[in-house]
Amino acid sequence: MEIEFWQQRWDLDQIAFHLPTVNPHLVSFLEKFNISPSSQIFIPLCGKSLDITWLASHNYSVIGIECSNKAIVDFFQEQGIESETKDVSKFISHQAKNIQLLQGDFFDLDQKLLKDISLLYDRASLIALPFDKRKQYVNLLSNILPSDSQILLITLEYDQNIMSGPPFSVSNNEVKALYEDKYNIDILHEDDVIEGYKTFKQRGLGSLVERVYKLSLKI
Ligand SMILES: C[S@@+](CC[C@H](N)C(=O)[O-])C[C@H]1O[C@@H](n2cnc3c(N)ncnc32)[C@H](O)[C@@H]1O
Repeated sequence: MEIEFWQQRWDLDQIAFHLPTVNPHLVSFLEKFNISPSSQIFIPLCGKSLDITWLASHNYSVIGIECSNKAIVDFFQEQGIESETKDVSKFISHQAKNIQLLQGDFFDLDQKLLKDISLLYDRASLIALPFDKRKQYVNLLSNILPSDSQILLITLEYDQNIMSGPPFSVSNNEVKALYEDKYNIDILHEDDVIEGYKTFKQRGLGSLVERVYKLSLKI
């Protein structure tokens, strides 16, 4: 999945992953992370998610990374928010009050951009990447996230022989293989959600397990 693939998806408006509401798991489980008011929350591969606005409206400071300029422009337009644009490191920063969306490639991230992050919120980010990229993604994050940061991760698992990604299937064993060297891993919620995904069912899937994780760096 190269960046051009995603830019094309945005240009053709093929963005079925975009939810028309705030993600209910974010709303239900954020309190489990005990993060302080006005903490910084990082959303890698953020799209134009309504979760950004929800977190900002709860006084968190949100940093998102998104490769599609269209996604970022649409986000600010649809939310009716004016943003200021400037170059920051290898990214174009679009900033408005407590929201900063960085347009560019996640894999160009460096430590100083994330030095004040308390929580990484990963909904449809890890599972947007193919296997090899998932390893690179976690390696990069493990090296640059602050030592007291936590991760709220949402995954989907299904039979990858029946349907190709994205979203890609990420099993619990894979989450462990990717994260357990450095993180304590707790499953907060697990459910078969196939009934809510009609198009995946039509493509032959009989089961689609969604998991919500709390990951905390081992001390
Ligand atoms: C499946 S979508 C999820 C978006 C968002 N997290 C949500 O819940 O709506 C994945 C997003 O990641 C972006 N993306 C993919 N690869 C990227 C990369 N290497 N750097 C930055 N953004 C990327 C895509 O443009 C797309 O908007």
